[in-house]
Amino acid sequence: MGYVGPGVVSQLRETYPDAILVGYDMAYFGSCLTDATIFPESKLDMQLFGDVRTMPEEVLQGVDVVIHLAAISNDPMGTRYENITMDVNYRSTISIAKMAKAAGARAFIFASSCSMYGAAEDRPKTEESAVNPLTAYARSKVASEQELKPLADEDFTVTCLRFATACGMSNRLRLDLVLNDFVAGAVISKQIGILSDGSPWRPLIHVKDMARAIDWAVDRDADNGGQFLAVNAGCDEWNYQVSEIADTVAEIIPGTTVSLNPNAPPDKRSYRVDFSLFKSLAPHHQPLYTLRQAIKELRDGLVAMNFTDNDFRNSLLIRLKVLTKLQDQHLINEELEWTFKSSQQTLTAVTL
Ligand SMILES: NC(=O)c1ccc[n+]([C@@H]2O[C@H](COP(=O)([O-])OP(=O)(O)OC[C@H]3O[C@@H](n4cnc5c(N)ncnc54)[C@H](O)[C@@H]3O)[C@@H](O)[C@H]2O)c1
Repeated sequence: MGYVGPGVVSQLRETYPDAILVGYDMAYFGSCLTDATIFPESKLDMQLFGDVRTMPEEVLQGVDVVIHLAAISNDPMGTRYENITMDVNYRSTISIAKMAKAAGARAFIFASSCSMYGAAEDRPKTEESAVNPLTAYARSKVASEQELKPLADEDFTVTCLRFATACGMSNRLRLDLVLNDFVAGAVISKQIGILSDGSPWRPLIHVKDMARAIDWAVDRDADNGGQFLAVNAGCDEWNYQVSEIADTVAEIIPGTTVSLNPNAPPDKRSYRVDFSLFKSLAPHHQPLYTLRQAIKELRDGLVAMNFTDNDFRNSLLIRLKVLTKLQDQHLINEELEWTFKSSQQTLTAVTL
């Protein structure tokens, strides 16, 4: 029920029309719908509401494949909620993978992140490169991969998709992602304010191409990549420097000016990534979007939403702002647990 999930649900429903698809989510952003004609989860057979930190093992009975997306999903949230990030993103990942394996699931797919590479050297990072996690978020992904590895065996394949930074339109759009932020700035005020000097490298991937990569992993054979696989998910052509991303947006939305912040401290999160392993393993599930298509689709999506918020960096299209608002309203507590649920009510199912 986040940014990536709706595209994954649509993709899987298309590929597996007869599969029973079950969602499990805390629904922090459930009401943050954007450009959604239908409730995205209506394509599921069942939506469960609950916390991955306390997920009952019954949820996994009879499940073949787990696609694990739930997370505190960026650096600013990871900094604000550091311990919770380790609990949700890492410890819960491992306990759910163990429960899934014990329940007889055959595959576990983990939404990992290229952000674990941290700081650039000259060469694009391959899966063999040393990781250099600079934030709690990135550390949570490294720790998860390390402990997922020994769980893989001939009956339980584990695929960690190290996604590039996501972008593109979604039924739950977020604007705390570099391309989405730039397009929003261009649409609303014809201005793109780059927070750095523009030089950092940031590989991108469209959310719908993430869904296609997940679709590939669902059916991946252990012969194709091994029982445990950690693979960079994206494509070489989408390695961009931040200033190049902004310039392309400005080209497509005429009249847009791009301002750099030359005094910004160097952004250490800069990495180019080598996606050749993914290309060789998943030739039929390579990213299809171009950057220009992604920008035009976002522009049109924002216009269709009647997007008019000049102060969008402080709006509910920013994940951290939603959590802060829920906390201010005492709807979630400091541990990010819903305050209106008793411990007996942690699991509610809605059959769709
Ligand atoms: N967006 C990106 O750029 C990007 C890039 C690489 C990897 N990823 C990974 O992809 C996954 C999805 O990212 P997203 O952009 O959709 O994030 P998102 O923040 O939009 O969605 C995360 C979802 O996880 C749920 N969640 C959080 N804590 C939970 C808990 N304790 N119990 C149950 N559900 C919980 C939230 O309610 C939300 O629906 C994440 O694991 C993220 O780390 C995202």
